[in-house]
Amino acid sequence: MQQAEERRIEEAVEQNDVAIRVRGLRNSFGDQVVHEQLDLDVRKGEILGVVGGSGTGKSVLMRSIIGLQTPDEGEVCVFGESMVGRLDDEALAIRKRWGVLFQGGALFSTLTVAENVEVPIREYYPNIGPQLRDEIAAYKIRMTGLPTEAGPKYPAELSGGMRKRAGLARALALDPDLLFLDEPTAGLDPIGAAAFDDQTRKLQQTLGLTVFLITHDLDTLYSICDRVAVLADKKVIAVGTIEELLALDHPWIQEYFNGPRGRAATAAVEREKNKAAPTPPDGRR
Ligand SMILES: Nc1ncnc2c1ncn2[C@@H]1O[C@H](COP(=O)(O)OP(=O)(O)OP(=O)(O)O)[C@@H](O)[C@H]1O
Ligand SMILES: [Mg+2]
Repeated sequence: MQQAEERRIEEAVEQNDVAIRVRGLRNSFGDQVVHEQLDLDVRKGEILGVVGGSGTGKSVLMRSIIGLQTPDEGEVCVFGESMVGRLDDEALAIRKRWGVLFQGGALFSTLTVAENVEVPIREYYPNIGPQLRDEIAAYKIRMTGLPTEAGPKYPAELSGGMRKRAGLARALALDPDLLFLDEPTAGLDPIGAAAFDDQTRKLQQTLGLTVFLITHDLDTLYSICDRVAVLADKKVIAVGTIEELLALDHPWIQEYFNGPRGRAATAAVEREKNKAAPTPPDGRR
C-alpha cells in the first residue's frame, strides 16, 4: 500500500518534470508507416536535439505533437494535458504556450517581418490593439538579434539567416514556454549557424524555455543540446547526452557521431574547452 503511494508520488513528480510526453505513437501515410510504438519524453527546461536520417519522420513527429498531424494511435501530452484530437479551451490554452519555427521558415511572403510576428498575436489575442501589437512585434524582432529596420521588410528582402531570425521572432510572439525548431540552422554559413545557436541558448536560458530542436547540424548538437533523441527504425531508439549515445552499439549512432564530421565536431568542442581552461603552470593539461 505504502509502495503504491510512493510510486504514485514518484509518477506525479516525474510528470511535473516533463514538458512533452509521447507514448505508443503511430503515424502512416497509406502503406508507409512512419512511426510505430514511438515513445519520447522532453524534460522541462531542456534543449532536446532530435536527429535521424532524412525521411525518418522528425518533422512528422513535431507535427503530431503540435496537432497538425493526427496520429493513427498513441498519446501526446503537453504540460500534462492530453492533446490528440482536442480542440477545447484547455487544449487552446496549451497551444498558446508554444511557438514553432517550421523547416524552411514558412513566413508569409506577402506580409512584412513585423506583420508576420503579429499573426499569432492577432489570432490568439484579438483584443490587443494595433499600437501594442506593433510594440510587441518590435520587441520580439530585437530579441532575436535582428535590427529594428528589419520590421518593415518583406521576407524576400532578407538574407537566409535573417529569415530564420524573423521566423524565430514569430515563434516567440506569444511568450512561449515551449519552442519547436525544425532545422533552424540549415542553409546558414557556419558563423551564422553558430550565432543562431548562441541566440537560441541565450533565449532558452533567459526565458526558461523548453526547446524541441530538430537538426542535422552536429555543431548545434554538441554546443547547445542538453540531450539528444535519435529517430530510427520508426521509433526513438535512444535518448541521452552525446556521451551516453556514444556508449551505445548502434550502427547509425556510431556512424553519425563517430564519422568524420562527428569527430570534427568533437575536436572543435574540445578546442573551445581548452581555450576556456587556464593552462596549468607545468604546461600540461
Ligand atoms: N503529408 C504527407 N503525405 C505523405 N507522406 C508524407 C507527408 N508528410 C511526410 N510524409 C512522409 O513521411 C516520411 C517522414 O517525413 P518527414 O518530413 O517527417 O522526414 P524528416 O525526418 O523530417 O526528413 P528531413 O530530415 O529530410 O527533413 C517521409 O517519407 C515523407 O515522404
Ligand atoms: Mg524534416
